[in-house]
Amino acid sequence: MFSFNCMTWKKGLAFSVIGLVVLGFFIIASYKQSTYVPQPADNRPPLALRPPMGWNGWNHFRCSPKLNEKSFKEIVDTIVGTGMRDAGYQYVSLDDCWQIGRGADGQIIVDPERFPSGIKALATYVHERDMFFGIYTSAGRLTCEKRPGSYGYEYIDTTTYASWGVDYIKVDWCGIEYLDTQTQYRVWSDAIKQTGRPMVLNIAIAAIETIENNAVWKWGHGMADSWRTARDLSDFWDDILRVADINTRYADYSRIGGWNDADMMQVGNGGMDLESYRSHFSLWSMMSSPLIAGNDVREMSPEIIKILTNKEVISINQDPLGEQAKVVTELDGVQVWVKRLYHQGDRAVAVLNRTEQEKTYYLHWSDAKLLPVVVYRDLWAEKPRWQPSFGSLKVTLLPHQILLLRVSGVDS
Ligand code: GAL
Repeated sequence: MFSFNCMTWKKGLAFSVIGLVVLGFFIIASYKQSTYVPQPADNRPPLALRPPMGWNGWNHFRCSPKLNEKSFKEIVDTIVGTGMRDAGYQYVSLDDCWQIGRGADGQIIVDPERFPSGIKALATYVHERDMFFGIYTSAGRLTCEKRPGSYGYEYIDTTTYASWGVDYIKVDWCGIEYLDTQTQYRVWSDAIKQTGRPMVLNIAIAAIETIENNAVWKWGHGMADSWRTARDLSDFWDDILRVADINTRYADYSRIGGWNDADMMQVGNGGMDLESYRSHFSLWSMMSSPLIAGNDVREMSPEIIKILTNKEVISINQDPLGEQAKVVTELDGVQVWVKRLYHQGDRAVAVLNRTEQEKTYYLHWSDAKLLPVVVYRDLWAEKPRWQPSFGSLKVTLLPHQILLLRVSGVDS
């Protein structure tokens, strides 16, 4: 009798333990699914809680003296006047060629012809208009345009930048190929920290594919706020696809505080049609890439302004969940990209025609992991409205066209 009772008791205990383990598993699993926890960077508080937005002179002006104190201020004024600032563009930055030498005291020397009032005056001009100021240097002895780099002067330069009121530093990797990337960018991170001024660090390894220890998306968190994943972006369609394809490989590594940077944008630089620029802007938004305009904003057409200031598309880029979109299906040159958004059941869904022919495609909501009935908004439509859709949506796309939807539904 006793042994029978003992067996029952043991069995009961075993079942209870198993039951508790299973229950615990479901509680943890559902907790993980329902609770969004931002993941802070390892050794410093994240500065870029959203992908940084702004303007940089490189893609349009390169090293040209046409970008100088006067034109830079005009550009700042135009960013305000066209509504770009209010749409979110915050960091207005100089790229290479503002520096011409280094004094015996180690201080960097600013080109006096292009910037006669100095860099601090420019930063102040930007701050007075409620924006932030950014600057460029290289981790090496030389920049990519053979100007003086910062190697060995990291602490002096970050101290100088802080005294000028710099808010964002893009650090390139020219003139230094023989050193270790991770070690050198750690020096940058520490040098910025000792200034006590919060300055965003953008790691911009130009020739990234050919550099050793180039997987910055793995080691950059906690050190920097964003990092380039591919070589420089040019102003033609195949290059947009090249960079998007590379950048999307690292989607899992991008998160709040540390973003994959697909490079400064080419929207409005004249090499592509409006359809291609809309797709370029949409893809950068889907990929949570920094949105850094790179055109001469003083010469923008109303259509380009409309693209760069499309607030609903920007809100996909700036979504608080901070996820990077992924390609979920691809058929005959048409891709479906999906990005989970903060609001439960919401997705950004893009259908991209990569080809030179018109395409018809059936978009199935199950591809976006939603139940068959959803409502959606077309973010490039003249007047986007919520519309219901059942099962799938028939999409016809011009060459290079993208359909970008904000979709609300029930998770499948
Ligand atoms: C490149 C970098 C560009 C630009 C240029 C300046 O290597 O990727 O974005 O900064 O250097 O020389």
